[in-house]
Formats: sequence, structure tokens, C-alpha cells
Amino acid sequence: MISVSPSGRWGGRVTSRPLPDARDELDAIDPVVRERLADIWWTQSATELRVATSFAVVHRSLRELGAEASLVALAERAIDDEHRHAALCLEMATRLYGHDVEPPPLLPTRQPHHREALDEDERRALYVIGQCALNETFANAYLSTAYGATKSPLARAAINELMRDEIDHSRLGWAFLATIPASKRARISDWLVPLTITNLREWHESATTHTYSYESHGIPSADAVREALGEVVRTVLIPGFAHVGLDVRALELWSRAGMPTR
Ligand SMILES: [Fe+2]
Ligand SMILES: [Fe+2]
Repeated sequence: MISVSPSGRWGGRVTSRPLPDARDELDAIDPVVRERLADIWWTQSATELRVATSFAVVHRSLRELGAEASLVALAERAIDDEHRHAALCLEMATRLYGHDVEPPPLLPTRQPHHREALDEDERRALYVIGQCALNETFANAYLSTAYGATKSPLARAAINELMRDEIDHSRLGWAFLATIPASKRARISDWLVPLTITNLREWHESATTHTYSYESHGIPSADAVREALGEVVRTVLIPGFAHVGLDVRALELWSRAGMPTR
């Protein structure tokens, strides 16, 4: 059984830990770069809000599947976590702009249809796996890369705050996968390649929107992100899916073929 409470804090946190003052650090950043970094954090705030909506779907799906109460509770907490992440990103944008800023408009949801799912239960399971085991695991790879490339106390504090939750959100997916009965594993295995491709493509697209590299300020380059995502497929996703009894042969073939997403 995969533990879903490694940090023993499933009660959740209402607010983020305060960011460091960082006035000197902010003053030393070139104004053009500072504005661009602010734009990126402002945009990320919108993305975090959209993830909150995705977790509302995950929460409902787990409830309707009759999943373990601890998983349902964790998904409910994740909705609040993502709202807190949106607020944190907005605070980063405010600090970098040097003035208050309106929250970004809500992004349209990106709920996949999974039209070829066998039934509603399979579709629900795919929502949980796609959002938690895949998207949140990729989010951790992105954040770890961002964290490792910067010494900025402000960026590190913000990234660390996000990572603390995203790790739990990804564990939710892996814990759910461990509860899938053997009779359903063959069908879920057939979904691994399409789910991974869809998810990875979205991450590639969002990473390449950064025209410049701002690694030292906590925004990793598209190349570094691509490399980290590929590494996570090989070292976390494939062994992780195999560990919970899924057939990963097609995913391995796709990985060895260079992980094409088109
Ligand atoms: Fe988040
Ligand atoms: Fe998350």
C-alpha cells in the first residue's frame, strides 16, 4: 500500500508561508526582465486556478467511484491547495511588478473527453490518473528543475511552497492506481501511451512559451524542462506504472522511440 500521508499534514494549510521580503533582490533585477518574470507568474496564477477546477473533477470522480475516504479527502484538500497556489503566484507577480495587480481571468477548462473509455467509471479513473499520476508528477519535475537552477531566495521560497503540495497531489494518483483491481489493469494499461502523450504535449507547449531563459530567477529554459520531463517518464512513470501492476511495454517502446507527441 502506498502511503498517502508521508508528511502527516493532511489537515491542509489555509495560507502559504510568507515569502521573504526580497526588496534588495527585486531592486537589482533589470526592469524589463522583472516585468517579464511578473507576466510569467501572473499567467501561472491562472493555470493554478484551472488546476483547482480539474481537482474538483478528480474529487467528484473519486467520490463516484467509491474510492477510499483518505483519497477523496486529499482530492478535496487539493482544490484548496491550488487556490492557494494561484494566490501565491499572484503575490509573486505583484512583488515583481512592484504594484497590485488584478487576478488573471479564468482560463477555459481543459477537461479531456476520453470518448473511447469503456464506461463512466473508466472515464473517472482516467481523470484521476491523468491529473494526479501524470500532470502532478510532471509538475514536480518542472518545479525541481526550476528550484535547482536558481539561488534567488524569493523564487526558491515560492517554488518550495508549490512543491510541498504538488508532491502530495501526485502521490494521490499513485495511491489510487494501487487500488485498481487486477481485472481493470489491462484496459488502463492501454491508456498509458495516449494519456502520457497528451500530458507531455501540454507541458512542452507551456514550456516553449518562455522565449528567454530566466533560470536564475526560477523560470527554467524550455530545453531544461523537456529534459526533466523525459527523465521523469523513464525513471518515475514507467517504473511506477509497472510497480502497480500495469503493462508498460507500449510505453517503453514509445519512450525508446524518443517520446514523440505528434
Ligand atoms: Fe499547483
Ligand atoms: Fe497540484
